[in-house]
Amino acid sequence: MTTANQMIAECDKYVMNTYGRFPICFDRGEGVWLYTVDGRKILDMSAGIAVSSLGHANPALLAAIQEQAAKLIHVSNLYYTKPFIELAKLLVENTHFAKAFFCNSGGEANEAAIKLARKYGKSHGGEDKYKILTMKNSFHGRTLATVTATGQTKYQHGFEPVMPGFDYVEFNNIDDLNAKMDKNVCAVMLEVVQGEGGIKPVTPEFFAAARKACDDNDALLIVDEVQTGIGRTGKLFAYQHYDVEPDVISMAKGIAGGLPMGGILATSKCCDTFQPGDHASTFGGNPVAAAAACVVIKTLLSDGFLKNVTDTSNYFADSVRALQKKYPVIKDVRGMGWLRGIELTIENRDVINKLIDAGVVTCPSGKNVIRFIPPLIITKDEVDFALEKLENVLK
Ligand SMILES: Cc1ncc(COP(=O)(O)O)c(C=O)c1O
Repeated sequence: MTTANQMIAECDKYVMNTYGRFPICFDRGEGVWLYTVDGRKILDMSAGIAVSSLGHANPALLAAIQEQAAKLIHVSNLYYTKPFIELAKLLVENTHFAKAFFCNSGGEANEAAIKLARKYGKSHGGEDKYKILTMKNSFHGRTLATVTATGQTKYQHGFEPVMPGFDYVEFNNIDDLNAKMDKNVCAVMLEVVQGEGGIKPVTPEFFAAARKACDDNDALLIVDEVQTGIGRTGKLFAYQHYDVEPDVISMAKGIAGGLPMGGILATSKCCDTFQPGDHASTFGGNPVAAAAACVVIKTLLSDGFLKNVTDTSNYFADSVRALQKKYPVIKDVRGMGWLRGIELTIENRDVINKLIDAGVVTCPSGKNVIRFIPPLIITKDEVDFALEKLENVLK
């Protein structure tokens, strides 16, 4: 039995079957390249689902992690450590937000945003102001509250009853939003680009209407930037492409370059809603994860970094649109920055497997979309490699 086959057999035997895994076993990574246990070199166009923003084995990231791990890995949030304070300062000074809260994942970040909104609602409009409007086809996580917030019943099925107090708006439909909005709504929550929902961007009109509806009803506008944030779309956060300022954003995935971390940022309007004892996380703002995140944020903000994200991703999208003329199996090319989806006229899984065989790992979104979400450090030559393999597979 090969090492890979043995790994797969042992995984099947000892690990709960919660993922539709592809049959590939990774051992190590360097830059945008991954190496399998059987020695294959594969271009990483998945980045662990929009996580490994600086690529694999990034020297600055490793140095910060090693230095902090040698100094102090963990103390309780009952005390102060430097990295999480520096991280909060970096995020606040580069956005319109006033304060941060840190946790460990996207689902937890959205839980924090939901709890903050409920407490804000009750203190501003009384006991009944707890309803949260989210979007159909959205994705916000797998905890019971966030799976309820997720506007796709397939994720809720089997776990009912889901949480009360949520209603779902047709994404980008202003009439539906306004029909469902009332004084008992404490928050509207949306993604700038629906990531798990097929790479669908919000329209500027709908985003502005959501802002207005929240202002008119003293509700919070929460933007889930778990997938779109931390440079993925070519700006630090994707809402910055629009003329709208949310009250709260959630973030996770790429923030600590691959270490588990999440968080929310909130404006002065609502950042003091949480008081000691209201919300917490044992590992939230962990010194090692926070030290890594400081490197990530400083790198993203360094000269030319985000421009490279925009340039290489636009080059990729333009090139795929050119391929679309030759290969009608490509139905649509969508997205912003390095959150790109190619919608196919056929199911994606077989194409993704063929791409892996050709040396490129990508990521599904729904049944028909292939996501190209590489480390943000990708170069044009590496994009060309992906394009060549994609064309070979489409042929
Ligand atoms: C937009 C969005 N929100 C929340 C989540 C959940 O994040 P996590 O898996 O870190 O809990 C995801 C994960 O894919 C996501 O894309």
